[in-house]
Amino acid sequence: MKIYSFLNYKGGVGKTTLLVNIAACLANKLNSKGQPNRILVVDSDSQASASKYILGIEYWDFFINKEKSLPTLGDHFAEYIREGTMVKPESYIRPEPDSPNPIFGYLTRFGKEWIGRKNPEQFQWTNLHLIPAGLNMIDVDMGLQDLLQSNPGGPKPFSIMSEILSPLKSLYDYILIDCPPNFFYFTQNSIYFSDSIVIPFKPDLLSTSGVLDLMLLLKNYEIKMNKKFHIKAVIPTLHDNRVSLYKQKIEELGGSLRELHKRKIIGDMLKGGFLHSIGLQNAASIQYLQNLGRPAMDLKTNDKVRIQLEAIASHFMEK
Ligand SMILES: Nc1ncnc2c1ncn2[C@@H]1O[C@H](COP(=O)(O)OP(=O)(O)OP(=O)(O)O)[C@@H](O)[C@H]1O
Ligand SMILES: [Mg+2]
Repeated sequence: MKIYSFLNYKGGVGKTTLLVNIAACLANKLNSKGQPNRILVVDSDSQASASKYILGIEYWDFFINKEKSLPTLGDHFAEYIREGTMVKPESYIRPEPDSPNPIFGYLTRFGKEWIGRKNPEQFQWTNLHLIPAGLNMIDVDMGLQDLLQSNPGGPKPFSIMSEILSPLKSLYDYILIDCPPNFFYFTQNSIYFSDSIVIPFKPDLLSTSGVLDLMLLLKNYEIKMNKKFHIKAVIPTLHDNRVSLYKQKIEELGGSLRELHKRKIIGDMLKGGFLHSIGLQNAASIQYLQNLGRPAMDLKTNDKVRIQLEAIASHFMEK
């Protein structure tokens, strides 16, 4: 099993959109035992974009924001610090048949209207689960030090996720964690728990230079956390092949990363990692489907966007 954090502290570069679509794509592929991959998405961002995309805004707003009947990742953190309780699958998997968790369960409701799908029953995504995020995670993030002080001898501030989610590892083939655009505790916990980091970036001037800053920052955290990081992929998102600047920026970034690696400035972090030359383009179809609460897997198999996603997901499945 593999755990990937999707990380970039630059906001709005397409991290969440890429993650949710890769999750759906992986859930549609078979694991080494010939079964559909079992996927857990962990929403580590209090903005809850991945949760809203997956569950639908109304469902998220009612069950998580108002009624609070589904615990957020932040609730799990707080409960563990106060009472030592681990996360149990029944706390985030809803049993009722029309529940959107297993995610994209709205499938059965929208039925035949999906784009390009003749047999929607084939795509139930019952193998795709979510630990959602909520607004209360802002308070948990800010108050984590205080919470921990009330429990001397407890976990380190960056190792809580690892402690509470480790028992779930045997249930999944992939755990994908959506990080917020900052480096506070939820991000630190996510990267500490992960096997590898995935860096989505927009190939413009600021975002490209931000990737190099991020590498150096991660290098510092390797020392602070006494852990070696591994970058699985650096993936351009939200780009357009017709814009020559984007192509140029992707090439420049590739050169800079190779240089950092060669001069051993970032250690072995990039060993085996790669800069995806195509990534995921800026596509109106992705936005359209996102608005319906649907993944880009609804697109036809020969659609350019779907081919890009399949290529990225295949890379994730390589050993
Ligand atoms: N490949 C894409 N094609 C078209 N639109 C996209 C694509 N990726 C993301 N978007 C749009 O760009 C906006 C930002 O995307 P998203 O929320 O995924 O970015 P993010 O990096 O996760 O943001 P944040 O840093 O706030 O978490 C959203 O409106 C989303 O619909
Ligand atoms: Mg996001």
